[in-house]
Amino acid sequence: MTSTKTFPKRTLGSSGIQVSAIGLGCMSLSGIYGSVSDDDGIALIHEALDHGINFLDSSDAYGAGHNEELLGKAIKGRRAEVVLATKFGNLGGKDGRFADGRPEFVVASCEKSLKRLGVEVIDLYYQHRIDPSVPIEDTVGAMAKLVQQGKVRALGISEASPATIRRAHATHPLAAVQNEFSLLYRADAEETLATTRKLDIALVAYSPLGRGLLTGDVELAETDARKRHPRFASENLSSNLSLVRRLEDLAQKKHCTRGQLVLAWLLAQGDDIIPIPGTKRKERLLENIGAASVKLTAAELAQISDAIPVGAAAGLRYPEAQMKSVYV
Ligand SMILES: NC(=O)c1ccc[n+]([C@@H]2O[C@H](COP(=O)([O-])OP(=O)(O)OC[C@H]3O[C@@H](n4cnc5c(N)ncnc54)[C@H](OP(=O)(O)O)[C@@H]3O)[C@@H](O)[C@H]2O)c1
Repeated sequence: MTSTKTFPKRTLGSSGIQVSAIGLGCMSLSGIYGSVSDDDGIALIHEALDHGINFLDSSDAYGAGHNEELLGKAIKGRRAEVVLATKFGNLGGKDGRFADGRPEFVVASCEKSLKRLGVEVIDLYYQHRIDPSVPIEDTVGAMAKLVQQGKVRALGISEASPATIRRAHATHPLAAVQNEFSLLYRADAEETLATTRKLDIALVAYSPLGRGLLTGDVELAETDARKRHPRFASENLSSNLSLVRRLEDLAQKKHCTRGQLVLAWLLAQGDDIIPIPGTKRKERLLENIGAASVKLTAAELAQISDAIPVGAAAGLRYPEAQMKSVYV
C-alpha cells in the first residue's frame, strides 16, 4: 500500500530533501522505553506512512542494530515513501567511551547500517555523538566520501555545539543537526538555532515531548531506560510535573492535549524545526501528528514559553556521567 495522505512538509537545510513537518522517532520500538513486539512496531511505522509521515529516525545504537533491522522490514516495498535517517558512533559509555568518529569506523558503520536497513542509500546519515579525540573535519570528511559514493544522500550531526557545527559544515554542507529540543530543555537548542539558521541547516528536535514528561504521563515500566534520567528522579519529578500542569488551561482552551500543545509550540519556532516524537502506540502517533493542526497566536506562544521558562526543568538533561558526551 502507498500513502494516500499528504502532510505539511519542511526541507532539510539546502539539501532539497522534503520531510513531513513531524517525523517519527523510532528508538522506543527497540525496547528502550519498555517492551513492544516487532509486529506492533512495524504496524506503527505503517500507520505513520499511511498518514503521510515520511521522516523515520533510527540509529545503529538503538537496540544494537535491532531498530535498523525493524525499519528495514517495515519499509520493504515502501522505500520511495520514506526519508530514512540513521546514525553511527554512539557507544553509550561502553568501556568508558561515548563516541567513535574515526574515518574507518564511519565507513564500516555505514556498510552495516545499509545491510540492516536493506537499502542502497541512506537519506540522512548523522554522527550520533561527537568524538572529541577525532577532528570533526576527519569524521565529516569520511561521511562526505559516502555521499560521493552514493551511499548517503545528506549529512547531519547530533548533540553538536555551534563551534562543531561550523567546522563540520565547512567540511561538507550539513542538511540537519539533531539536538534535544523541547519546552523543558531548550537552552542548548536555542543557542544552536542561531548557528543553524545562519548556515541554512535544519534543526531536528529530538525528545520533543521531554521524553514523555511534558505529556504528564510518567508511568515508567521497570525496564524503561528513562528511570536513569534525572528529570524523572523522585527529587525532581514533582517540580517538573508542576511545570507541565501550567499548560493545562491553555490546552483545554485550544481543545488539544498538552503533548499537542508543546509540539505545536516547537513547530511554531520556525520552519527549519522538525520534531520527531516517539511512541509505541498508534493512538498516540495520531495524537502527536495532530499537533500540526494546532495553530497558536503570538500571545499564546509567549504564554507557553513563560509557563515553562528556559532553565526551569529540575535535573540535568542526561545522567551526570553522560553530560560530557553531549553538546560537544
Ligand atoms: N540524537 C539523539 O541523541 C537522540 C536521543 C534521544 C532520542 N532521539 C530520537 O528522538 C526520538 C524521540 O525522542 P524520545 O522518544 O526520547 O522522546 P519523546 O518523543 O519526547 O517522548 C517519547 C515518550 O513519550 C511517550 N509519548 C509519546 N507520545 C505521547 C502522547 N501523545 N501522550 C503521552 N505520552 C506519549 C512515549 O511513550 P509510549 O511509547 O508509551 O507512547 C515515550 O515514552 C527517538 O525515537 C529517537 O529517534 C535521538
